[in-house]
Amino acid sequence: MKITELPVPESVKEVVLRFGIVDLYPPQEEAIRAGALEGRNLVLASPTASGKTLVAELCALKHVLEKNGKTIYLTPLRALANEKFDEFKKYTTIRKADGKRVSIGISTGDFDSSDPWLERYDIIITTNEKADSLLRHRAKWMDDISLIVADEVHLLNEAERGPTLEVVLARLMQINPDMQILALSATINNVEEIAGWLKAGYVITEWRPVALKEGILLREEIQYKDGGARKIEKKTSNSLINLALNTVKSGGQALVFASTRRNSAALAKKISDHVGEVLSKPARRTLEHEAEKILAAGERTRISEGLSELVKRGTAFHHAGLAGAHRKLIEDSFRQRKTKVLTATPTLAFGVNLPARTVVIQDYRRYEPGYGYYPISVLEYKQMAGRAGRPKYDKVGEAILIAKTADEADYLMGSYVLARPERIWSRLAVERIIRVHVLATIAADFAHTEQGIYDFFGRTFYSYQYDVKAIRSIIAKILKYLYDEEMLDVSGESIHATKFGKRVSELYIDPVSAVVIRDSLGRKPAYLTDLSLLHLIAHTPDMGPIMRPYTRELDEMAVFMEDHREELFVDIPNEWGDHIAYEEFLGEVKTAMVLNAWIEETSEDTMIEKFRVQPGDLYRTIENAKWLLYATHELAALFGSREVLPLTLELIERVSKGIKKELLPIVKLEGVGRVRGRILYNAGYKTIEDIKHAALDNLTNLPLIGPRLARKIKEQVGGFVKKEKWEKLEKEEEWKQKAITEY
Ligand SMILES: Nc1ncnc2c1ncn2[C@@H]1O[C@H](COP(=O)(O)OP(=O)(O)OP(=O)(O)O)[C@@H](O)[C@H]1O
Ligand SMILES: [Mg+2]
Repeated sequence: MKITELPVPESVKEVVLRFGIVDLYPPQEEAIRAGALEGRNLVLASPTASGKTLVAELCALKHVLEKNGKTIYLTPLRALANEKFDEFKKYTTIRKADGKRVSIGISTGDFDSSDPWLERYDIIITTNEKADSLLRHRAKWMDDISLIVADEVHLLNEAERGPTLEVVLARLMQINPDMQILALSATINNVEEIAGWLKAGYVITEWRPVALKEGILLREEIQYKDGGARKIEKKTSNSLINLALNTVKSGGQALVFASTRRNSAALAKKISDHVGEVLSKPARRTLEHEAEKILAAGERTRISEGLSELVKRGTAFHHAGLAGAHRKLIEDSFRQRKTKVLTATPTLAFGVNLPARTVVIQDYRRYEPGYGYYPISVLEYKQMAGRAGRPKYDKVGEAILIAKTADEADYLMGSYVLARPERIWSRLAVERIIRVHVLATIAADFAHTEQGIYDFFGRTFYSYQYDVKAIRSIIAKILKYLYDEEMLDVSGESIHATKFGKRVSELYIDPVSAVVIRDSLGRKPAYLTDLSLLHLIAHTPDMGPIMRPYTRELDEMAVFMEDHREELFVDIPNEWGDHIAYEEFLGEVKTAMVLNAWIEETSEDTMIEKFRVQPGDLYRTIENAKWLLYATHELAALFGSREVLPLTLELIERVSKGIKKELLPIVKLEGVGRVRGRILYNAGYKTIEDIKHAALDNLTNLPLIGPRLARKIKEQVGGFVKKEKWEKLEKEEEWKQKAITEY
C-alpha cells in the first residue's frame, strides 16, 4: 500500500512523503486494514523497528484533523517521550480547519500538577507515571481525549511500572468510554488476551525491516537457528571478543549485552585493545573529538575518564551508573557509527533505539543485588536480539548467545532461540502498589464506595486475567489502614478522602511514606539540621532501594550515627535486638550521608571513591530526594510544622544543585552550577551585586568561564557589555578554538 492511497488528509501524506516514506511496511498495512484509521481499538504486536510509530502518527493526525479530537501518547520512559516528541514535531506545519497549526505538547516532570496548559495541545506525549499523576489531579482536558496510544504495552509485565500503565489505561477507559485505543507491543504470547481486555482487535506480525539470524557461538563456531554454521577467526582466547572484532572488521558494529555493570566495563576495556588496532586514521581523529566531548560534559570522574579512553579506541560501555549526559553522548556516537563496539547492561534493550549489525549476549543470566543470578526471560532475550540489524546499513542482523560448553549451547538453543516468549501477567496484586491506587481512586473522585473501588479494580488487566475477588481482602485491609491513618473518612456507605489523603495522593507518594513523615514531624529531634531531614526522607519507602554500606564503611558509619543521634527524627534500632532493622537503618544513614556530602560540594569523583556511588545512582537519589523533600514541605505546611518550612525549601535548592548554602544566590544564574559557582565565589563574587560590578575580563580570566558564558552572566545580572569589548573577546575565543582544533 502506498502512502498516497491512505484515507488521511493530503497535508499529512505530504509530510510523510517529505520524510522519505513512500510505501507502508507490511505491519502498517495490516494495522490499517484492521481498522486503525476507522476508529477501531487495536493492539499492534510486531518486532522492533517495524514502524509501529507511523501507525500511531497517522491515527493521531486523523483524530486531530478530521474529528477535532485529542491524542495522548503514553511511553514508559522520559527518554522515549522526548524521542516521540521529536518525531511528532514534523506535523506542526499542518493547519487545522480553524487555521491554527497542529500542536504537540510534552509533559514528563513535576508530579504535583495538573498542567492545565496542556489543554491547548492536540497531541500530548507523557510517561505512564506522569499520566497517572495527571489523573490524580483530575486534569480537565483528559476528559476530551479521543485517542490513546499506549507504546510498549508489553511493559504490563514489569513489576514496578506495569501496574501504573494498567491503572492509567483502566482509568482512561473509565472516563472516556468512546475513545479509541491503539496499543503497540513487542511480540508476546498472549496478545489476544491484552486485546480482549482493551476490547480491541489485534495484528500480530513477525516482519522486520532487516532479516534476523539468531545463533549460538561455542568457541570458534556459530550454530544458527536455521541449521547453518559459521567459523569466526580466533584472534584471542575469548570467543566473544573474536566475534565483536569479526563484526567490526567487516564494517559492522557490535552491541554486547553483559550481565552486570562491572562486566560491561571490563569487557569494553578488553575489546578496546583490539578494536583500536583496526581503526583508520580519520576514524581515530573523530573519536578523539568524541572522547573530548565526554570529558567536557558534566564533572570529570574516574568513570568518565575511563570511558573517554575507551572511546578513543572505538569502544564504549553503557549502564545506569553513568551520568545522563555521558549516556546520551555514548548513544549518539554509536548511532552515528563512530564507536564500533558498545557493551551494555540489559536495561538498554528496551527503550532507546540503538541497532547494531551484531548483537552479542554474553550471559543468559542476570544479576540482582540481594537475590543473585537468575535466567532472563525469553521476552527479554527477544528484545535484546531484536536490536540486531540497522535499517539502511545492514542486509541481515545477527543475534548471538555465547555458550561455554556444548550442553549449554543446546540449552540456549532450546530455551531461548527456539522458544516462544512468555505470556504477559499483571503485576498489580502487590499491597504496596494497590495501596497507592486505592487512595487515588477515592481522592480523585473516581469512586466513593467500597463497591465503586472494586468496580474500578474490576476494569484492570489483573481482573481480566484473574478475578477481582482475589484482591478484595487486600483492598479491604488497605481501606482500614487508610482510615486508621486519617486519610479517609467514612460516613455510612460513602468514603471520602480527608485533606491529608487528598494531598498524599496528589503528591504521588506512598501513604506509608506520608505517615512516616507526618509522625516524625510531630516529634522533633533535639537539634534540627540538614541531616535530620535528609535522613527522614531516606527513611521513607519511596526513597527506593537502600544503599548498602561496604564493610570498610561500617566503623565510620557507627561513629557517625553516634555523633548525630540527637539530630535524627527516628531512633536508631538496637543492633543486637533487631538486626534486619539495624541493617536497613544503616542503608538509610548511608543515603543521608551521600546526600549530605553532595550538598557539602563533595566532587562526584570523591563520591565514587568514598561511598562507591556512581553518578547515575547519585542523580537518581537526588531526583528522589527533591521530590520527597517537597512532599515533606507540603505535609509540614498542612500539619503546621512551620519551623521546618524554610529548611526544606533551602534543602530542595541545595540538593538540586549540590551546593553549600553560601552559593545559593549565584547559582540562580543560568550557566552557573556547583563547579563554576564555587569558582566565582572563591574569586570574591559572592552575590549578584558583586557580579554586576565585575569587569568582563575578570570573569573570563577565571577557569571554566569563557567569554560567551561571561556575557550571558553579565546580561542576566543586568550588566552592560560594550560592543567593542565583546568583539575583541569573540576574536580571541575564535583563535583559541582554532588552536585547539588544529592541535
Ligand atoms: N513505511 C516505512 N518505510 C520506510 N521507513 C519506515 C517506514 N515506517 C517506519 N519507518 C522507519 O522505521 C524506523 C523504526 O520505526 P519505529 O520507531 O516506528 O519502530 P517500532 O516498531 O516502534 O519499534 P520499537 O519496538 O523498537 O519501538 C523509523 O526510523 C521510521 O522512520
Ligand atoms: Mg516503538
